[in-house]
Amino acid sequence: MVSRVIPVDPFDLVIFGGSGDLARRKILPGLYRRFWDGQMPEEARIIGAARSEMDTEGYQQFVRDAVTEFVSKRKCDSDLLDQFIGKIDYVAVDAKGTDGWEKLAGIMRDGVVKAYYFSVGPNLFGDIAERLHRFNIADEDARIVVEKPFGHNLETAKALNATLAEHFAETQIYRIDHYLGKETVQNLMAVRFGNMLFEPLWNAQYVDHIQITVAETVGVGGRGEYYDRSGAMRDMVQNHMMQLLCLTAMEPPSRFDPDAVRDEKLKVIRALEPVEPVDIVRGQYRGKGDDYLDDVEDRGSLTESYVAMKIHVANWRWNGTPFYLRTGKRMKARVSEIVVRFKEPPHSIFEEDTGQSANELTIRLQPNEGMDLTVTIKEPGPGGMRLIDVPLDMTFAEALGEEAADVPDAYERLIMDVIRGNQTLFMRGDEVEAAWAWTDPIIANWTEREDRPKSYEPGSVGPEEALMLLHKDGRRWRELRP
Ligand code: BG6
Repeated sequence: MVSRVIPVDPFDLVIFGGSGDLARRKILPGLYRRFWDGQMPEEARIIGAARSEMDTEGYQQFVRDAVTEFVSKRKCDSDLLDQFIGKIDYVAVDAKGTDGWEKLAGIMRDGVVKAYYFSVGPNLFGDIAERLHRFNIADEDARIVVEKPFGHNLETAKALNATLAEHFAETQIYRIDHYLGKETVQNLMAVRFGNMLFEPLWNAQYVDHIQITVAETVGVGGRGEYYDRSGAMRDMVQNHMMQLLCLTAMEPPSRFDPDAVRDEKLKVIRALEPVEPVDIVRGQYRGKGDDYLDDVEDRGSLTESYVAMKIHVANWRWNGTPFYLRTGKRMKARVSEIVVRFKEPPHSIFEEDTGQSANELTIRLQPNEGMDLTVTIKEPGPGGMRLIDVPLDMTFAEALGEEAADVPDAYERLIMDVIRGNQTLFMRGDEVEAAWAWTDPIIANWTEREDRPKSYEPGSVGPEEALMLLHKDGRRWRELRP
């Protein structure tokens, strides 16, 4: 397959929190991969900015180590890596003080795209934004990139939006939800709006229900302090799962452009009905030697590491078709997928038909990115008209070749979109606020009732009660298998 990589415009990218974990694991290795792929122009420059007193050589070594650790050996060509390292600079800045800002202002170049990645806690967003202005570092075309968590609730999200808006226009603010950068998430839009086959059936008349699963095998690990304040609802549902729900449920935008897409997503969030407590199951993994409570400080923590819920989108398209969402840590398999379960045919003409058949379209985000569609056919051979369901399976790596499946990861793609000035895959301020407005009452209800999460075995499919959530509607979760 011919590479279609088009280099972006020359840029200066400043990474605040440049020596942090996200920079080391995702941002810097991702930038190197874009460089390796030929997408980074000659004049591109990456500037680490952090509190640590470090010289440029020290930071270059940090970047070299990060790339060597997180990029596959095949791509770690030493000449290329040296060239990439040549683009790296470092400035020590004090986000809350004045040290380093003049120096940063002095090294930014005119005539190139300026992007500022806030890879720091949200408590520093305001300080950094204010100083970028005070020291005349950001021009009108500059972009800032902010990470989740974008607020802890509606109130804090609004305050953050207001703080950023004091110094930057909405068109300059890129709120990252890395799920939007995943290849298959974009494929969801291609499948829905690039084919005639699915869209006419994509509604309550033909769809029985939809399941969205993001299951992880990892536990809370070393992130206990952050996670215990968030829980699955804030960490995954308010953002990543909400985005998947929006892209699945939204009306076709008139164009694939930032506001057209984001307007449609916003309409979905605003159409979400409040969720009844009986339609939610919260869980916590509890096991000998592998216990949520050992991973966090508060031995009596009531924070959920798992949540499953039934959601109604109150509009014409989805009236009566529920969306079931589930996400959890320490589950049986790492699987992210969207399953669209169609209704059974209204009348069967076959005597042997057991009445169980219904088409199911599964969009697999990870692993084995691809799609599969179950279709009912006649079981081959004699013996009458016996029906069976067979999968039409398309794993992208098999269908398009390994080379085509070697696509940029979410962060790489999103950072390049920032440089290109394309906000389509970033969340708008009103979208984030609407998502919190829906999430807040659910969490407030748990807090009020001191709701105790159900325990589930680490390595399992989650709490029993979550199975019941579908059973009582005569449905069942798709088996959790990678
Ligand atoms: C992050 C969450 O945003 O997404 C993590 O904070 C979670 O808790 C991660 O593990 C999942 O991302 P991915 O890309 O591995 O599915």
